[in-house]
Amino acid sequence: MREFDEKSVTAAVLARMDDCQDARFKQVMTSLVTHLHDFVRDVKLTEAEWITAIQFLTDTGKMCSDKRQEFILLSDTLGVSILVITINNPADGGTTDSTVLGPYYWEGAPELPLGANLAVGVKGEPTYYSGRVLSNDGSPIAGAILDVWSGDGEGTYDMQMEGDVGMKARGRIRTDAQGRYSFRSIKPEFYPVPTDGPVGRMLNKMGRHPMRPGHIHMIVSAVGHHAVTTHLFAAGSQYIDSDAVFGVKESLITPFAKHPAGTAPDGTKLDVPFYTVNYDFRLRKG
Ligand code: BEZ
Ligand code: FE
Repeated sequence: MREFDEKSVTAAVLARMDDCQDARFKQVMTSLVTHLHDFVRDVKLTEAEWITAIQFLTDTGKMCSDKRQEFILLSDTLGVSILVITINNPADGGTTDSTVLGPYYWEGAPELPLGANLAVGVKGEPTYYSGRVLSNDGSPIAGAILDVWSGDGEGTYDMQMEGDVGMKARGRIRTDAQGRYSFRSIKPEFYPVPTDGPVGRMLNKMGRHPMRPGHIHMIVSAVGHHAVTTHLFAAGSQYIDSDAVFGVKESLITPFAKHPAGTAPDGTKLDVPFYTVNYDFRLRKG
């Protein structure tokens, strides 16, 4: 057959993959073509809308650079990133849940001693984080690494700050023999995902806000265990029920206990209130 109608074209495209040697690729492309054609038929896509979609994807590609990944932002805001993460790292009730990496991870943060202040000179309310890294059998993991990063107390990441400020509010902390970690940073605030590109225009047109609730990122890793890319979310933060990238998991929402000005856990005398957070991470052996 050479000519196809609006139904038979789908089978024709799929049949062209008869010689495909990669079974998994064929499975993925078969499902993609099937769903894409069903979508076009379902909404009866107009030619103008199709061109708009092509222009949108072109603009998204043009916005990508080594500093900006608009396609990942598109995936994040459409819930695809968290869907992929959740399918591949299903909650097992015992180990720490994964969530999105986001665009602000910077490899090579300095390793700092236990208790170090990651946020020297960074705006924000002082917060003391502590807890343990455990294996799924409950045993403490010595020498686990927490690679931590966040924005400042106004939700601005170092990469977004004016000028070349270098790394701020980042560091790697290694657990002690009892699996304990501790560090000082700031209380993270809600902030918007980048909105100056096509994804921002899409969110606006969808009637959506671009905000993420206050969170601090970490990749927790240890020899002999699966690393987890995760966040701690500040309980009660604005937007906790409507994260623009759908990254919230109940198990990652944690109280930030507020204390009046006085002596902090590390003995520092603070003349401003501060917060403490205690959270244990659990890694799956393997
Ligand atoms: C973030 O948490 O840093 C983030 C995650 C996804 C999209 C934009 C920002
Ligand atoms: Fe973030």
